[in-house]
Amino acid sequence: MAVSRRTFFKGAVFIAAAAAAGTALTSCSESDQPTPRGADAEPRPLPIPPLYEGTLDGDVRRFELTAQEGEAEIVPGTMTKTWGFNGPFLGPTLYMRRGEKIEMTVNNEVPEPTVVHWHGVHLPATADGGPALMFDTGESWSPSWTVDQPAATCWYHPHPHEKSAYHAYRGLAGGLIIDDDTTAISGLPNDYGVDDIPVILTNANFTEDGQLDEENGWVGDTMIINGITKPRFEATTRRLRLRVLNGNVLRFHHLSLGVPFKIVATDQGFLESPVEVDGVLLSPGERVEIVVDLEPGKDLTLRSDGLPNLDGLPDKETADMFGARDEFDLLEIAAPADDAPASPALSEELVALDVPSSASVEREFTLNGMEINGKTMDMARVDFVVDHDGPEIWHVTNENDDMLHNFHIHNARFAVKEVENGEVEFTSGWHDTIDVPPKSTVTLLVEIGYYPDPTLAYMYHCHMLNHEDHGMMGQFVVVEPGQEPDLALPNGHEH
Ligand code: C2O
Ligand code: CU
Ligand code: CU
Repeated sequence: MAVSRRTFFKGAVFIAAAAAAGTALTSCSESDQPTPRGADAEPRPLPIPPLYEGTLDGDVRRFELTAQEGEAEIVPGTMTKTWGFNGPFLGPTLYMRRGEKIEMTVNNEVPEPTVVHWHGVHLPATADGGPALMFDTGESWSPSWTVDQPAATCWYHPHPHEKSAYHAYRGLAGGLIIDDDTTAISGLPNDYGVDDIPVILTNANFTEDGQLDEENGWVGDTMIINGITKPRFEATTRRLRLRVLNGNVLRFHHLSLGVPFKIVATDQGFLESPVEVDGVLLSPGERVEIVVDLEPGKDLTLRSDGLPNLDGLPDKETADMFGARDEFDLLEIAAPADDAPASPALSEELVALDVPSSASVEREFTLNGMEINGKTMDMARVDFVVDHDGPEIWHVTNENDDMLHNFHIHNARFAVKEVENGEVEFTSGWHDTIDVPPKSTVTLLVEIGYYPDPTLAYMYHCHMLNHEDHGMMGQFVVVEPGQEPDLALPNGHEH
């Protein structure tokens, strides 16, 4: 009976961390590491996901997405079995404008039930695409909503119960651009595919026969950018706007370009004014829009450096479970020709942020192992109810000293008010996903979309998708004051 609480606690965390890093405990002794693919090949042109504007009918914009199986040449010379939307791997970039009504149809042609979540979009729970809305192979789902939020780079990915990591890893992910009149900001590139470039970062390990390794791939050794390894973008302009998405299941990136660049937007849209930095941390699910000025004759490389200060992880061994010391070249950017016209000055004023200074409701969330507030996800449990329109303050603590976690809220945006202990510098502005470094508390000023519906929940979770699949998720229901939640549950998930 000598097992102390402390020993037990440590053991439990170790197991969780090993599972988290995608390493089966039984295979720890195997020494042969998967081989990085495509490293010696010549760079290939950066694929630009097609811009999909749907069909506009008055102020109704209609889209049709089909989740399907396919094969893609992620690595040159190798065909890999993949999943994608409207194509073999990843999906088109959806374009929509504030004020429009969206009518979406999603067809499921992959061999497992799935559902699509519009990450970063504020919408009714019937359209949010949480796990309760999963639908079977051969079926379709048609959510609709009205775009009611500022311009932002969002994305979409599946959210099936306990399978989100697998579905995203196989390739079900795409960008979603919300536009409004702020794109007229002077000096800000906005010609999609020319000077306004989506950069979707994913990674994988490949098996001997060139397939996605699903046993041991969450911290993959092969970086995939817009669907391929080792891309090169030939710039034709002196200024680029990169809309970077960390679409990884688990891997964090600290991005740099070898020259200073400007952050103009975070997950939920523009900052008040551009912020010049040398690098930026992007945890899984986060987006950042950066603007970089190019000089003819000077090529640049978008790189992923090791995480500064290991993001608070205690030692190299722990850091390596999360790939926190890994370094990669992600994207070569070839400089424009000498005669590329000079860029006009980038406006110092982007948008007004209007972050409220106080809130009436405060909540606390502790992240520990695969639990939030001591619980794992239960589709039949309502963790709390939001019965008002207006800001809240959420204190989110990562209680683990040896695990990375981050935190995402559906149908919401938040500003970081305060960070205790973490040495991470957060960008001002509105986010929907944020790093919560080991042993730190991040205090958020949260605005939740007010679409009362007692029958369906919104999720909050660690966006390391395998942590989410292991249960690191909870759910809240938005109701009218005094209304009780009354969850409609899919088959097999009754109370
Ligand atoms: Cu992108 Cu529930 O997440
Ligand atoms: Cu989300
Ligand atoms: Cu986590």
